[in-house]
Amino acid sequence: MAYNLLKGKKGIIFGALDHKSIAWKVAELAHEEGAVFTLSNTPTALRFGELDELAAKTNSTVIPADATSVDDLTHVFEESMKVLGGKVDFVLHSIGMSLNVRKKRVYNDVDYNYLNKTLDISAISFHKMLQIAFKLDAINEWGSVVALSYVAAQRTHYGYNDMADAKALLESIARSFGYIYGRDRRIRINTVSQSPTMTTAGGGVKGIDGLMDFTNRMSPLGNADAAECANYCITLFSDLTRKVTMQNLFHDGGFSSMGMSWKAMEMYNKSFECDCNDEKLITE
Ligand SMILES: NC(=O)c1ccc[n+]([C@@H]2O[C@H](COP(=O)([O-])OP(=O)(O)OC[C@H]3O[C@@H](n4cnc5c(N)ncnc54)[C@H](O)[C@@H]3O)[C@@H](O)[C@H]2O)c1
Repeated sequence: MAYNLLKGKKGIIFGALDHKSIAWKVAELAHEEGAVFTLSNTPTALRFGELDELAAKTNSTVIPADATSVDDLTHVFEESMKVLGGKVDFVLHSIGMSLNVRKKRVYNDVDYNYLNKTLDISAISFHKMLQIAFKLDAINEWGSVVALSYVAAQRTHYGYNDMADAKALLESIARSFGYIYGRDRRIRINTVSQSPTMTTAGGGVKGIDGLMDFTNRMSPLGNADAAECANYCITLFSDLTRKVTMQNLFHDGGFSSMGMSWKAMEMYNKSFECDCNDEKLITE
């Protein structure tokens, strides 16, 4: 059911790759809720993803950009204002990638060139977007910017590797720029810390199946899926959340507040019944 929450609003959505992407679900819902927006992703993602289908479905223009490039991002903001006929009201940063994860370099043996790339793509790109939009005065008063984060920014999660550091930086950028944007422009900046979700990026996380089962057992409301994450992002783009800024907002069914749950404990106890508790070689 649509509520017209974004009627008359304009936006930019970064990071929709295919129908599983969180950004894809946000775009579908933003369209249903009355928004107009542009879509952006890398030229490679445009070649291999399904973005044209989403653009057709939501009547959107696609503007290619590598989010590490200031020139590309400047073009996205300038072109979006042209296409949409004015400043935007919301921006979604739904971008993440680690070459260390992809190349299976563990945290105590990262490649530093890869680490720089991880930080640039997954976190500094957010600073670049915010700085460019600020200089171009591209976001309307009471606008809203959201980036997607993960609990490993704040609590150590085996296997999340250098993405944990990238997410910690991302959340810090939201606070630092949130102050400046709030003070000078009355614009809000937040991060949403989402449950593990089976997407292309999510599939790259070490042991994602077991992780998702564990977080599901630990969360009193169960894992939040991509469509539910989109619901939450839409509320943050709407006028109903105008005084929420500089926050990292957990959207994880309660996982981040848990220590141990009955469902997880039950499974843990079962593990004593077999020999699967034998010590295994720890590779990280
Ligand atoms: N899937 C999960 O478990 C999970 C959990 C919490 C947070 N998140 C975050 O949600 C966001 C979206 O991820 P997703 O799960 O929808 O996966 P996804 O793979 O669908 O989206 C990741 C996107 O990042 C884009 N990207 C990578 N490098 C880029 C670059 N240089 N420039 C521009 N775009 C680039 C990819 O093309 C892709 O569209 C990411 O920030 C991710 O870290 C995901």
